[in-house]
Amino acid sequence: MESGEIRGSEKKRRRRGFILAVTAVALLVIILAVVLGVTLSRGREGFKDTFMERCQKFKGYNCEHIWELFQQAYVNQDPCEVPPNAYDSLIAAAPLESSCNRLLFWSKTKDVVQDFSRKKDCFQTVEETLLGSVLNSLTWCGKKGSNETLTTDCPGWLDCENNPPRSFWRRVSTAFGDAACGNVTAMLNGSITTPFDTQSIFGSVEVKRFKSPRVKNMNVVLVIQKNSVTNCTNPSLQNLVMALDKGISYSCLEVFRSQIEKCGSDPEKPCGACW
Ligand SMILES: *[C@@H]1O[C@H](CO)[C@@H](O)[C@H](O)[C@H]1NC(C)=O
Ligand SMILES: *[C@@H]1O[C@H](CO)[C@@H](O)[C@H](O)[C@H]1NC(C)=O
Ligand SMILES: *[C@@H]1O[C@H](CO)[C@@H](O)[C@H](O)[C@H]1NC(C)=O
Ligand SMILES: *[C@@H]1O[C@H](CO)[C@@H](O)[C@H](O)[C@H]1NC(C)=O
Repeated sequence: MESGEIRGSEKKRRRRGFILAVTAVALLVIILAVVLGVTLSRGREGFKDTFMERCQKFKGYNCEHIWELFQQAYVNQDPCEVPPNAYDSLIAAAPLESSCNRLLFWSKTKDVVQDFSRKKDCFQTVEETLLGSVLNSLTWCGKKGSNETLTTDCPGWLDCENNPPRSFWRRVSTAFGDAACGNVTAMLNGSITTPFDTQSIFGSVEVKRFKSPRVKNMNVVLVIQKNSVTNCTNPSLQNLVMALDKGISYSCLEVFRSQIEKCGSDPEKPCGACW
């Protein structure tokens, strides 16, 4: 009797323990699902928020309209089948002003270039134009049968040629190349063996848009460091010279990275005195 009671209460305790454990697991699953759901939808809405916030820094544009045109390029599309011209109406809605002597192109020097052009208002990069700054460092895509903008599970830059970000950067870089006039500056990387890469956006898109006599000079700033493997006699730079429209003259300067960084943060130095 006594032992039976003990066994019975033990059984009850075990059952209670089991119920508690099941409840705890169920609660955990629900909490996880809610957190995940909130994070995912915030990720999606976060994309549009970022887009609008960055866009509104530029005065005089209808950002809601620009967002609509942007979405039309890729929503409800296979994320590997969005060609550059899908962004034509977006580009037309935020036209670039032709800009003489100020445009700065770059290839494989992103860190030093963005730091430099942010601090010093001498040059403009494509990342400082409205569309370039709105979409800088973002990933996006759509999918068939949905009108959503996804920010995860999108193809990577190299996964397929016509993915939404890569086609966007090709398209906006075409427009940026078209806006070039007078002296054009390009910062290339002297720490690698082929500073001019014909596969890069600079080599495959932008250089081909420079037309003489609108563009007069192509000035290469080769960013070097101690022990740099490359200098201005590098053979890949000969390919750049050959790719230029006849009539555009070419120059190349080797400049230390530290010099560019120092000059960028010196407000007294006039534009053009950094090299
Ligand atoms: C040049 O390329 C090297 C190797 O990829 C990289 O470590 C370096 O930061 C680049 N230089 C600049 C100025 O971005
Ligand atoms: C997506 O489609 C649904 C139903 O067709 C519609 O209610 C919703 O407003 C659309 N969302 C966007 C962002 O266009
Ligand atoms: C253009 O570049 C050339 C050398 O490449 C330089 O002599 C000239 O001063 C530059 N002109 C302007 C307006 O920056
Ligand atoms: C440029 O680089 C090449 C190949 O690395 C080297 O042979 C040459 O001496 C360098 N020229 C100068 C002026 O540093």
